[in-house]
Amino acid sequence: MIAPPPPFVQVDDLHVTFTSPGRRPWQPARHVHAVREVSFAIAAGTTFGLVGESGSGKSTVARAILRLLQPARGSIQVAGREVTTLKGRDMPAYRRQVQAIFQDPYAAINPAHLVREVVGELLTRHQRIRPGRERDARVAALLVQVGLSPDYLDRFPYELSGGQRQRVAIARALAVEPEMLVCDEPTSALDGSIQSQVINLLMDIRAQQGVTYLFIGHNLHMMRHISDVVGVMYRGYLVESGPTQRVYRQPAHPYTQMLLEAVPIPDPHVQKARAARRRTLEQADGVAGEPEITAGCPFQTRCPAVMAVCRHTMPPATTVPGGGIVRCHLATPDATTAG
Ligand SMILES: Nc1ncnc2c1ncn2[C@@H]1O[C@H](COP(=O)(O)OP(=O)(O)OP(=O)(O)O)[C@@H](O)[C@H]1O
Ligand code: SF4
Ligand SMILES: [Mg+2]
Repeated sequence: MIAPPPPFVQVDDLHVTFTSPGRRPWQPARHVHAVREVSFAIAAGTTFGLVGESGSGKSTVARAILRLLQPARGSIQVAGREVTTLKGRDMPAYRRQVQAIFQDPYAAINPAHLVREVVGELLTRHQRIRPGRERDARVAALLVQVGLSPDYLDRFPYELSGGQRQRVAIARALAVEPEMLVCDEPTSALDGSIQSQVINLLMDIRAQQGVTYLFIGHNLHMMRHISDVVGVMYRGYLVESGPTQRVYRQPAHPYTQMLLEAVPIPDPHVQKARAARRRTLEQADGVAGEPEITAGCPFQTRCPAVMAVCRHTMPPATTVPGGGIVRCHLATPDATTAG
């Protein structure tokens, strides 16, 4: 039997901790465990969608993959190469392989540069094409690819709308012919119809160029539409992941269920039933604020199905029928009877 190809991205047991100094000199440093025990894989040419509430660690996972921060522990392999130990001299090749699109295009765009320079700069840096007619022609072709006229070569970013600016950021990312795009809420700052246009553009790029995506978003409808596999984060843990249709139709983790309950749907009867269920879940969420959880399941203070075992033991990753994993004792054999 022929073994399946290795995934394009393989993340194993990723941990990221931020240390901030105490607010006063005599106070101890604070450690934020932003990402804990996170493992997942992304097959080449597919989209892995990462969802979860604000502060759950999604951007931190993205930044670790982009090597914008150093994890405390764990392994990240991209195209068979370990990313966490890349040296400075390896970085230009890696930056070319994996590009990022952020919510704020100004993160990648220098507002003082004309679009020809914003995009052309990458062609010079990575492909040694000097400023001039040939480079302008390449930039113009990239602009057309992202749905902008070549006239935009001579515009400044501040002259563009939000959607146009994001298109320029995408053209810039494409300039290096990346194999992977890490998109961290690339449309969150845009209006509804512009959002769908940018999403469609990104999905066209996937279809035409076989680019692999890590995609972070809050719009669960949109995430369902674009993701092959979806991962759900809660307080730094990946609490569930699996094929998108399975996760959306049969969410296995109580948090995923709660998250999906909140998605508005057109049918008023289903909507009403969901609202009632959501109220029940919210009543179970009796703890105000976000207390520090030092042991057990991170969802224990909000979970309507919490058991004694949840208070002291973090559930392991258990395979879900239909695909993927869940970290919940309800899915762990015998956990419901354990103390
Ligand atoms: N540079 C930093 N220093 C200290 N703490 C940080 C830093 N960056 C993130 N954090 C903390 O790490 C946790 C995860 O943050 P992260 O930005 O990854 O969440 P997120 O899921 O992307 O949230 P959002 O949906 O709001 O973008 C949060 O508690 C956040 O406050
Ligand atoms: S492990 Fe326990 S507390 Fe956590 S989600 Fe499952 S049932 Fe709820
Ligand atoms: Mg974020």
